[in-house]
Amino acid sequence: MINFNNVTKVYKSGTEALKNVNLAIKKGEFAFVIGPSGSGKSTMIKLIMKEEEPTGGELYVNGLDTRDVDRYEIPTYRKKIGVVFQDFKLLPNKTAYQNVAFALRVTNTHGRQIRKMVPQLLAVVGLLDKANDWPGELSGGEQQRVVIARAIANNPDLLIADEPTGNLDPRTSLEIMNLMYKINQMGTTVLVATHDKSIVDTFKQRVIVLDEGRVTRDIPEGRYVV
Ligand SMILES: Nc1ncnc2c1ncn2[C@@H]1O[C@H](COP(=O)(O)OP(=O)(O)O)[C@@H](O)[C@H]1O
Ligand SMILES: [Mg+2]
Repeated sequence: MINFNNVTKVYKSGTEALKNVNLAIKKGEFAFVIGPSGSGKSTMIKLIMKEEEPTGGELYVNGLDTRDVDRYEIPTYRKKIGVVFQDFKLLPNKTAYQNVAFALRVTNTHGRQIRKMVPQLLAVVGLLDKANDWPGELSGGEQQRVVIARAIANNPDLLIADEPTGNLDPRTSLEIMNLMYKINQMGTTVLVATHDKSIVDTFKQRVIVLDEGRVTRDIPEGRYVV
């Protein structure tokens, strides 16, 4: 699903954010990427999203060499990747329902299909009863659930999250991670960047450790100890 082959990323400023990263994440896997601030977690995600380009090595996503994805193909490429960030980024003037519907409308989904799918997606994240609430009326955890519903709306192959629990209390963080795990169990490959070690410890999934741009450890499922 994702293959980093000796990937290096040097920003224009000269910062070496990733150094000779080698990683393979298989279809259907759940993996955490952890590491201190500045270790390169977000850079990894930006390379996968094609928001940034590697300066060395090769990156394959879903069988595609990301270099071969032209500028005009990027929207189609990104349709297959759902993303969740720390700051929830819902459209404030749209309800929970409308936020999810919008993600389907921009990919030209038919109205009838949208009306069928949005309630299903809100049910997956446990928010069917809040469909008509505005983002400002929802708690942080509920807003993040809407973001997740939106991220999986177009049935992505891959769900990636950059510090998805960064603004949430421990209990809500756990609920959000449970939801990501449930989505993984439904068949989507999930990659979560976080510096929240307690979350990582609770879930016992694969843990990739980054330090100053290098993968220093890659711990298989069930073996991680804080
Ligand atoms: N757009 C950018 N331009 C220059 N340097 C950047 C840019 N984005 C990130 N960096 C630098 O790259 C390094 C890795 O950053 P980042 O990938 O955001 O790490 P993390 O997400 O683990 O905190 C840091 O030193 C950061 O300052
Ligand atoms: Mg980051």
